[in-house]
Amino acid sequence: MRTFGVLLLAALASCSAWSKLRPPAASDLLRIEGHVDRGPFGLSAADLAKLERRTLRGVDPRGGREAAYAGASLPPFFNEGLPLLRGADTAFFHGRGGYVAAVPLNAIRQSQPVLADQMDGKPLAEASPESGPLLLAWPDAEAPGLGTDSRQRWYWVRGVERIELGPWQETVGRATRVPLGASGEARLGADVFARQCFQCHRLRGRGGVVGPELTRLGVEKPDLDVVALLASHLAPRSGIPGAPELAPAAAQQVAAFLKVVARAGADRPEDEVRPPAPRQPSPGYPVPPPASRP
Ligand code: HEC
Repeated sequence: MRTFGVLLLAALASCSAWSKLRPPAASDLLRIEGHVDRGPFGLSAADLAKLERRTLRGVDPRGGREAAYAGASLPPFFNEGLPLLRGADTAFFHGRGGYVAAVPLNAIRQSQPVLADQMDGKPLAEASPESGPLLLAWPDAEAPGLGTDSRQRWYWVRGVERIELGPWQETVGRATRVPLGASGEARLGADVFARQCFQCHRLRGRGGVVGPELTRLGVEKPDLDVVALLASHLAPRSGIPGAPELAPAAAQQVAAFLKVVARAGADRPEDEVRPPAPRQPSPGYPVPPPASRP
């Protein structure tokens, strides 16, 4: 990531493509915000058409059919096009219906997705109205390794309206912080949440809004059997027929995590959202007398 940052600065110094970026307008197709210098920016269909393009073969997990997707190639846009601010290591793709995929910039650089506006040579809005006008599409039919990454299916985003840049730690990391003293099971559950739930559910004010916020679930619905609910949840809610449901152990972990989050929040609402304050001596701390040694 550090090398990436250095390359990025070098690219910025030699390239002024981003100086053409402008503030958002009502007719824009895409908005870019968050950790970008002088942002937010807006891009119209015409602006998007001027970006470097590429075509890839991929399988939208919701449709399940392989197709050729063409659109703005994201690695050059992120590398040379956008004045990213320090610490931005994640792109949040906000799509239709309140869905948000948190994609590490590393994954974008390595897998080279496109912001597709065409499918099999036709405008996406015609070929697949539910995916358009912009679809975050991945070359999983060309790079078979991609399909085996369990996060990958969540990275396909339909109807992308907004890309927000930010540091993972301050966003997903903060939302899924484990309260002090939580069990190992709850700790594992925080990872499960970040990978499989965050895109649809908010926690501590961050995440998707396809489903309800879950921060206070454990105190508001203490009798809800989360493990039973999760036995058939991901596939029906996402519309991805092949999305495997969580294994019972992972469902237990995420249920344990949601319980401790709710309890921590109930005791001290803001407490667990922030990183711990630096340790200060308490007011009553005995100050040792100046050393008077021979
Ligand atoms: C593709 C979107 C999506 C994903 C991914 C998803 N959910 Fe949901 N979830 C929903 C929607 C929509 C609802 C509301 C409808 C319903 O209750 O089924 C919901 C409801 C819930 C509820 C019931 C909340 C209540 O107040 O009754 C719980 C608990 C829940 N989800 C937990 C999870 C957990 C834990 C994960 C991750 C393992 C997860 N969900 C992943 C969309 C999603």
